[in-house]
Amino acid sequence: MSNFLPPSIQAVLPNIIQLIYLVATGIFIFGIKRLGSPATARSGNQLAALGMLIGVVVTLFDQQILSFEYIIGGIVVGSAIGMFAAKKVEMTAMPEMVAIFNGFGGGASALVAWGEFSRAVDPAAFATQDLVTIGLSILIGSITFTGSFIAFGKLKGFISGNPITFPGHNIFNALLTLGTLGLVGWLAYDPASQLIFWLLFGIALLLGILTVIPIGGADMPVVISLLNSYSGLAASMAGFVINNNLLIISGALVGAAGLILTNIMCQAMNRTLTNVLFGAFGGDGGSGSGPAADTDKTVRETTPDDVALQCAYAKKVAIVPGYGLAVAQAQHALKEVVDKLEKRGVEVKYGIHPVAGRMPGHMNVLLAEADVPYDQLYDMEQINPEFKSTDVVLIIGANDVVNPVAKTEPGSPIYGMPVMNVDEADRTIIFKRSLSPGFAGIDNPLFYEESNQMFFGDAKDSLQALAKSLDEV
Ligand code: TAP
Repeated sequence: MSNFLPPSIQAVLPNIIQLIYLVATGIFIFGIKRLGSPATARSGNQLAALGMLIGVVVTLFDQQILSFEYIIGGIVVGSAIGMFAAKKVEMTAMPEMVAIFNGFGGGASALVAWGEFSRAVDPAAFATQDLVTIGLSILIGSITFTGSFIAFGKLKGFISGNPITFPGHNIFNALLTLGTLGLVGWLAYDPASQLIFWLLFGIALLLGILTVIPIGGADMPVVISLLNSYSGLAASMAGFVINNNLLIISGALVGAAGLILTNIMCQAMNRTLTNVLFGAFGGDGGSGSGPAADTDKTVRETTPDDVALQCAYAKKVAIVPGYGLAVAQAQHALKEVVDKLEKRGVEVKYGIHPVAGRMPGHMNVLLAEADVPYDQLYDMEQINPEFKSTDVVLIIGANDVVNPVAKTEPGSPIYGMPVMNVDEADRTIIFKRSLSPGFAGIDNPLFYEESNQMFFGDAKDSLQALAKSLDEV
């Protein structure tokens, strides 16, 4: 296909291709760097997409795989599906979408390795290291493929969100893992054996299912982040298989980023990865599905007018959003309330816990959607010292991230998880529909504190009522 180029350019074409790969890699890294702040994240994402476009076009051109008609057709159809999915998906359903993308990424890497293996006239002609990378690509790609679709099914509710296990499950999985690694070695030793190849493929697909199925639905975001890392590793392996530097580097970037993110999420929940993967914790993670709180204790219920009065005459108000804000899609109603308070001269800050919601950066993205200025968003470490001097904290659909037992009860499943010190403020007002627990399934003593009031109802309805009442104060 590149035959139409003059011979002098054809001679240096491989170098030009490598140079373009280097530029695409630089764009990826720069794009990821820009994802570090909400202010630059959008352009970072666009830059990374540009890097991907360059990578796709140059690879197809270089490998002489397809004609330009197919390249352009593929880009148009793929982009249309991607844009449709991105526009259509709810913020709360983002983990599901990432799960599907990871699954396809892993599956694609396994297919690349399969293609390379099956088109060889004599598989024995492969060097040993190539056979090992083919085997690892099949193994990791297949685990990622089926594991991601199980994660998707659990989040969507197609598969029970409860841990599904059988006696000796972990040992069986460990044996299967060892078995697949053995098969990778065997494939390198005896590449002519089709049986070994297909056995490896089949067991790896099964292993993906058996690894994710015992994990509770509520832990799926962590699992998805880990599978994201696997899909990067699989892509990197596929890069070695077809000798493509861009794939090796971009796969390694995804692999490292997924692992770092998994680590951040585990640390913010004060849980180890082993506990997430083998601890069968959390059930389906559905809000309000857990047992109702201890009904012997009493709570103070409040009204929109009362909250409006307390906030309108406060000097400093803090907002702590959580998963319920996302479910209720209450971000715009919240912004309206905050605008009204600021007009009255009240100082308002948003405190964002690192695992508020169900995915990393969940709250930041939601609030950005409602045009909340980034400089009003404070990380937990920044806002925690400020609660002492805060008059009112509005806790909107958040529960675990403000639960003081994380600091006081060593037996609690969330003990040690860093939480927002809202109990140090003069008053707290919790917006939620009932006294049901959140993700961790445990009661929250903050509900019954003297200084706390409960504003029951859907977060969006409650905030809209509050906005109305503020007009009348
Ligand atoms: P949760 O502790 O899950 O609490 C959310 C609360 O929102 C629930 O108690 C629920 O109470 C309320 N709610 C649900 N729908 C609502 C609606 N329409 N209107 C008003 N309230 C509603 O959430 P959180 O405080 O954000 O904590 C996040 C939890 O998820 C943590 O335990 C964290 O470890 C876990 N987690 C987070 C991540 C990431 S990366 N973010 C990943 C994995 C796990 P009602 O049913 O009574 O309304």
